[in-house]
Amino acid sequence: MSATTTVPVKVPGHTYDIVIGEGILPTLPERLGPLVPSRRILVVSDDNVAGAYGRPVTDALTSAGYEAALASIPAGESSKSGDQLFTLYDKALDHGLDRKSTIVAVGGGVVGDLAGYLAASYLRGIHLIQVPTTLLAMVDSSVGGKTGINLPRGKNLVGAFYQPRLVLADTGVLTTLPDRELRAGLAEVIKYGVIRDPDLFALLEASMPSLLDRDNAWINRIVSRSCEIKAEVVAADEKESGLRSILNFGHTLGHAVEAVTGYTTYLHGEAIAVGMAFAARLSGATTGLSGKDITRLESLIEKTGLPVRAPDLSWEDLATVMKRDKKSVAGIPKFVLAETIGRVRFGIDVDPGVAADVWAGMAG
Ligand code: NAD
Ligand code: GLY
Repeated sequence: MSATTTVPVKVPGHTYDIVIGEGILPTLPERLGPLVPSRRILVVSDDNVAGAYGRPVTDALTSAGYEAALASIPAGESSKSGDQLFTLYDKALDHGLDRKSTIVAVGGGVVGDLAGYLAASYLRGIHLIQVPTTLLAMVDSSVGGKTGINLPRGKNLVGAFYQPRLVLADTGVLTTLPDRELRAGLAEVIKYGVIRDPDLFALLEASMPSLLDRDNAWINRIVSRSCEIKAEVVAADEKESGLRSILNFGHTLGHAVEAVTGYTTYLHGEAIAVGMAFAARLSGATTGLSGKDITRLESLIEKTGLPVRAPDLSWEDLATVMKRDKKSVAGIPKFVLAETIGRVRFGIDVDPGVAADVWAGMAG
């Protein structure tokens, strides 16, 4: 086991730790002792990771004297559904979970969001531990308390802000993560550099080949720094009344790219990469981001093996989806735009003609 880093998250009325390190999964039972009031636990995982991580976590908890059971859902976004949620309520009842019991989510953002909402809603809320196994879940979805499921008419339409008691990020599990998923997670790390930390951005420029080679020292470093930034933002604005929306840099267009392609063509991080390249150019036209910074961001995205263009998508389709996005106000999409790498402004209305021109300029 390598050295660990602990990042505290301080939200009103509740502080919890994100613990990051390679090989720390087996330490979960001993860390849980002081955090949960009862020994009854339901571990939720998905069929891709239940064997390698969900089952060993459940067995380690059982060996340590917990009453732990494992529930595995099919892998993939379609499991973030009411059907899977109701199946898990049944599993929770079958296993006798009461108000003092705990849900442990072992998986990527799909497992974390679904199991998080299960914990938030079952018996009006029981304890939650997040054990993220994708890079995206380590740096983003397991931290900050957003939980939820999709409805047939849209993503994340039902949910709750519900903070975990602990996030345990064992970066060793990333050795089995497919390359494409690793790159998608790196998109969110690039985002943290743009919104808050020019040094992180420069570090990514220097270390991208090592990160893509899964050099664990570098991975630990960028996971830790990303979690520090997210913790800082969430502590200042847990329920997204203002500042937290900076975490959506690249997401206004990115979400639309995912939606118009039916959530089947682009991974979330890939769509966000296109959205960040678009936001950078829009920032050039609106908030004064320099040409040099636009080029730096596009080069870093490309170096990560992520797309900067989605030339087949029509502006009309994207604009229609953006208007009805849940973050739009009175049908007007709000953008997070950069002034420099490391500093952004949020809640910006953009002239639709300017946005359309920027998109047209990216087609070639
Ligand atoms: P995911 O959970 O679907 O995981 C991606 C794939 O990797 C899955 O097939 C999974 O089984 C597999 N996998 C996970 N860990 C693995 C490992 N260590 N080795 C091998 N395979 C592994 O996707 P994701 O990108 O982690 O999360 C996407 C979800 O997160 C979306 O539903 C999105 O809406 C949500 N999200 C939530 C927040 C939030 O703040 N709550 C933020 C960003 C994204
Ligand atoms: N992923 C954006 C947020 O947590 O607010």
